Order: sequence, then C-alpha cells, then structure tokens
Amino acid sequence: MANDEFDRAASGASSGGTIPSLTLNDGNAIPQLGLGTWRMDDDVARRCVRHAIGIGYRHIDTASLYRNEVGVGQGIADAIAAGDVAREDLFVTTKIWNDDQRAADTRRAARESLKRLGLDHVDLLLVHWPCPKQGLFAESYGEIMKLRDEGLTRSAGVANFYAEVLDELPEAPAVNQIELHPGLPQNEQVADNARRSVVTQSWAPLGRAKQFGSGPIADIAAELGRTPAQVTLRWHLQRGLVAIPKSADEGRMAENLGVLGFELSDAHLDAIAALADPATRIGGDPRTFGDE
Ligand SMILES: NC(=O)c1ccc[n+]([C@@H]2O[C@H](COP(=O)([O-])OP(=O)(O)OC[C@H]3O[C@@H](n4cnc5c(N)ncnc54)[C@H](OP(=O)(O)O)[C@@H]3O)[C@@H](O)[C@H]2O)c1
Repeated sequence: MANDEFDRAASGASSGGTIPSLTLNDGNAIPQLGLGTWRMDDDVARRCVRHAIGIGYRHIDTASLYRNEVGVGQGIADAIAAGDVAREDLFVTTKIWNDDQRAADTRRAARESLKRLGLDHVDLLLVHWPCPKQGLFAESYGEIMKLRDEGLTRSAGVANFYAEVLDELPEAPAVNQIELHPGLPQNEQVADNARRSVVTQSWAPLGRAKQFGSGPIADIAAELGRTPAQVTLRWHLQRGLVAIPKSADEGRMAENLGVLGFELSDAHLDAIAALADPATRIGGDPRTFGDE
C-alpha cells in the first residue's frame, strides 16, 4: 500500500506528510492515528510497539487492564535505544481500571502503570469506564487532574463517557475515548464532545474489520485503490477524530498508516453513513458496564 504520503509517514519525518495532530483543550497535541494494543501480551506488545515506532507510529494506547504495559514500555525503550525516536516525540496513553476509582487507588494505580511502562509520565491518563452506579468516576478524574499538575500525565481524559457523566466532572477532559466505527458513528456524542472542546478518540475504529468483506467500504476501497481499513481510518480522520487501530501484523500496521493522500467525497461519506446500526456495538453499554 505504498504511496508518497505513507512513505513519508513511515520514515518518521516530523513534518509534511506525517500523520496530522489535533490540539487538545489543554494545549497539548495528539497524533490522529495511534496503535491500539488490546489483546497483545507483553511479548507481542514489545515486538509490535518497537516495530510500529520504526515505521512511523508516534502514538500508543494501552491500559492497566491489558496487562501489557511492561511489553509496551520495553518496545518504547527499544525504539528509543535504537535512536528511532525521542520520548518527547511519543504520545503514550494508559487508563485507570474500574476497581481503582477511589482517589488513593487512582494514584497508586497510575504510579504502578508508570513503573510497568518504565516512564516518568504518560501523555494521557484516562478513567477507563464511568461505572455510574459506583459513583466514583469524578473522584478518579479529580485525582488524575492532580497527577497532571504533578507531571505524571500531560493530559487528563476519560473513556466511554456520555453527556450525563461528563456533566459531573470538575472540568472538560482533554479526550473522551469511545467505541466508534462506521457501524456505530456516535454522531451525537461526537457533537456533544465538540461542544465541550473535548477531542473524540475512536476505539475499535475498524469495527474489528467486520464490515470489510463487502458493501460500501469494500466498494469505495476498490474505487480508490485503497484497502477497506484505509478507507475506514480516513473516515475517522476526515471527521476530526483520533483513531487507534490495533494490529499485531506488520503488514497491516503499515497498511493502517496509509491514510494520507486521498479524500473521501460527500457521496462516499453518505454511503458509509448507511452502515450505522446499533447492533454492531462491540463493547458494553457505558451506562451499565462495570456496574452489573
Ligand atoms: N477505552 C476502551 O474501553 C477500549 C475498549 C476496547 C479497545 N480499546 C483500545 O482501542 C484499540 C483498538 O480497538 P480494537 O483492538 O478493539 O479493534 P480494532 O482496532 O477496530 O480492530 C482490531 C482487529 O482488526 C484487525 N485488523 C487490524 N488492521 C487490519 C487491517 N488493515 N485489515 C483487516 N483487519 C485488520 C486486527 O487483527 P490483527 O492484529 O491480526 O491485524 C484485530 O483483530 C484497542 O487495541 C485498545 O487499545 C479501548
């Protein structure tokens, strides 16, 4: 899937043709494409993160839940030791799990994550799910704000939040990471986030590749000489979203960087909009997940 833009992105060059960044409401920049790492174990994460940085990824998403922060950290350390990247050019996210939402637990969990990652700070620390019945998400977020003030994370954010729980936070977070793919375009939550100056990050941005075989995405890919994954990721970028596709395959990791140098037309966007179907939701309902 080589193209000029991909070649430049793959070179890791920091200007022109690289993956664009968005500016968060705290002034920090977030690359619009990153590598997801869910279901990678430590060994796979080390190999994949190392490789991804080598071909131009600058944004890595993990979580304490994924039990791969050691491997992610080793992959980062390997890439830095090889001279492929400097720490300040990477954007690393981790998350506070649902059991750790009390302030003291959030602090301990963040420190443990940093220790496993081998980093003195992350770029983004998220409350992983609101678990509204537990009633602790605002406490956890408040502690993340303190950790930000102390330099343990550059930005503070949330995942799987919706308007009613965002309303209860002491400030608008920098990022809201939600399940978002063509089957679940989340138009209302994206608009709600934007009204609050919150950047929307898409998890499962490929919809786990379930709508790639046939239909509008396959048709557009054939028309443009791209792949279904590239069309899907381009859709995220054109919507102003941040996408974190996971791949443990070197070819697909490279393919997923090939999102520059082409545009989806309004007709393409309309065709993709027709895929919206709430039944395609992959994860839990944020209003109940973790509270059942
Ligand atoms: N905040 C949250 O609650 C939350 C929840 C879930 C996930 N996440 C984050 O979001 C990331 C992405 O979500 P996800 O991993 O669930 O789903 P995804 O990125 O939509 O899809 C990943 C799946 O698609 C395959 N794939 C990757 N590139 C492909 C390509 N070019 N063509 C065809 N298939 C391709 C991967 O297989 P191969 O590996 O074999 O390529 C994998 O099976 C996660 O890894 C995690 O970091 C966050």
